[in-house]
Amino acid sequence: MDAEHIPVLRKDAVELLAAERGGIFVDCTLGLGGHAEAILAASPAVQLVGIDRDPEALALAAQRLAPFGARVRLLSGNFADLAALYAPLGLPAPAGVLADLGVSSLQLDRGERGFSFRRPGPLDMRMGPDGPSAADVVNQYPEEDLERIIRELGEDWDARRLARAIVADRQREAFSTTQQLADTVARVKRRRPVKGGRPSERIDPATRVFQALRIEVNQELAALPKLLDEAIQLLSQDGRLVVISYHSLEDRIVKNTLRDLARGKVDPITGRAQWETQLIEVLTKHPVRPSPAEVAINPRSRSARLRAARRL
Ligand SMILES: C[S@@+](CC[C@H](N)C(=O)[O-])C[C@H]1O[C@@H](n2cnc3c(N)ncnc32)[C@H](O)[C@@H]1O
Repeated sequence: MDAEHIPVLRKDAVELLAAERGGIFVDCTLGLGGHAEAILAASPAVQLVGIDRDPEALALAAQRLAPFGARVRLLSGNFADLAALYAPLGLPAPAGVLADLGVSSLQLDRGERGFSFRRPGPLDMRMGPDGPSAADVVNQYPEEDLERIIRELGEDWDARRLARAIVADRQREAFSTTQQLADTVARVKRRRPVKGGRPSERIDPATRVFQALRIEVNQELAALPKLLDEAIQLLSQDGRLVVISYHSLEDRIVKNTLRDLARGKVDPITGRAQWETQLIEVLTKHPVRPSPAEVAINPRSRSARLRAARRL
């Protein structure tokens, strides 16, 4: 297993889940099963329910977790449907829920999945088997929608020029490959050279556009509030929720949702928080970030922020 496949913030995640207590833990983003393996290894009394929308990830994780036998159950689905996926199992309330958001290294590394501007492949980017692909978005969205998603989800301030160039290029030939899109981005960006920072610190110009499309294609921001809500409702008393995010918009959703649930309902007359309606205690005053040593080994961890809460 190479360094990039070591799960991000593994030790912090397992500790904040308090997996050594045993019980049922739900990994909502199973991926290659790295966090799941560490959770299972924390105690022989841990049972794990693993969910992923990517059938390829589920198959690989199943192999990795096979040594844990009947302690593992794997489910295919979207974590936005957590409660509906969990209910038919007939299990008691879980002691912990983990979500390690975003893409897996498996998805990024396989050119044929279309997530990477560095690898030739179809412009796909779907984590699961259905829904519109990145090519559908790029070829069909109106220019103003492309501009909005590149600006908001990609946080790229060249959004207007990029959207205009994409629309001009698609009129000549529809986009079907990652290379075509990377070329269009490179052409726009070459006209405005990146200023500042050492070359090693600059990210590739296509990074932000590809990130924006991936989040849009997989409706990643829409699924997150539902997951947080259902996870908190599902947890047993003293159960733990751990969420690792990689994008400032995701982290903001996690931070604000946890803050609101910890504060409880606000009395409309006095404006005071009603402590009896508090659902959780936030365990991470500030988000946990990877150490420089972890980032050096696994550069993909650099934007990770972990937040955790305890169900009251
Ligand atoms: C960062 S990876 C997880 C890596 C994993 N923690 C490990 O140690 O190998 C994120 C995974 O979550 C999955 N995923 C993302 N959004 C999802 C959603 N809404 N429902 C289910 N799975 C999702 C992706 O398919 C991907 O496999």
